[in-house]
Amino acid sequence: MNTQFLDSYSIQQAAELLQRGATVVFPTETVYGVGANAFDEQAVRKIFQAKGRPSDNPLIVHVSGIEMALRAAAEVPTPARMLMDRFWPGPLTLVLPRSAEIAPSVTAGLATVGLRWPRHELCQKLLELAGVPVAAPSANRSGRPSPTTFEAACFEMAGRVAAILRGPPCQVGLESTVVGFEGENVVIYRPGAVTREELEHVLGCPVRLVSNRDVAASPGLLHRHYQPNLPVKIYEAPEQAAPVSGEWIIGPPDCRGPWPGRFILIADIEDYAHRLYSLFREAEAAGVSGLWCWLPPARGLGQALRDRLLRASGKRP
Ligand code: TXA
Ligand code: MG
Repeated sequence: MNTQFLDSYSIQQAAELLQRGATVVFPTETVYGVGANAFDEQAVRKIFQAKGRPSDNPLIVHVSGIEMALRAAAEVPTPARMLMDRFWPGPLTLVLPRSAEIAPSVTAGLATVGLRWPRHELCQKLLELAGVPVAAPSANRSGRPSPTTFEAACFEMAGRVAAILRGPPCQVGLESTVVGFEGENVVIYRPGAVTREELEHVLGCPVRLVSNRDVAASPGLLHRHYQPNLPVKIYEAPEQAAPVSGEWIIGPPDCRGPWPGRFILIADIEDYAHRLYSLFREAEAAGVSGLWCWLPPARGLGQALRDRLLRASGKRP
């Protein structure tokens, strides 16, 4: 497929491609997504093809405001409404009963749909111009790390989609928090930039992170994920790390080493999230034989980093 590379001046063209049933890669505040009109079954199928994504893994639908979300969902429970009011637009996906208008492939046969109103200016403009909800998973080939820069999105998707829209590097760098509503309970299917602590603060009740033993409601969690083409090894304390020459190691200042290979210093947890997938790609391109990654404590954004790092290293969180 002949891919067009577009910048913000050509945003109208990108919106028209979406309206005509084509696939467009675009930036969001979390990661780049590969999108298509969520009401158009034929268009949505092109996303699965471009990614090589298993058809049992549902897609997140991006909306341009609460009004459009109310059209895509059949029902919005009170806690979901509270979270929309507080965290939208932002890196939070809410899993709600789906409206009949959503194309069947989007939800992989589930009765629910994941909805998100992104905080990214260019992305918001694109969604407004398109005027339809846009189904968009991360713009990586299935199983690989999500792209967080235009260059990474091109590396993953050039030749597979109609267009790629250029934006600056994604601010957050990790995918959105995915939240579901099960009876009286609010649960996290995938930790992300909106933290469990923040959700609990707004809702005034405990929010559970569902484990891998209990993911029938979010089938995507069972698949291979976030893995670069090199071994990712994890450590919590410096004495657990043993990089050999030819391997790189990422960590905070107190894990500085000396080590035989390159040490990559992360300033804080936001910096780590922002850079993780780019570092995966940089290490891949440099032909590094292994990448040691520090596993941060399980609080705040650390929860999402732990989830991605454990999966990237082939473990189940
Ligand atoms: O930040 C993000 O969320 C990015 C950007 C592009 O918005 N998108 C993204 O999409 O990461 P994707 O497809 O790579 O991840 C979607 C996650 C999967 O874990 C999937 O299982 C879950 O959301 N999901 C989507 N719809 C769901 C549903 N109806 N029920 C449960 N889980 C759902
Ligand atoms: Mg993904």
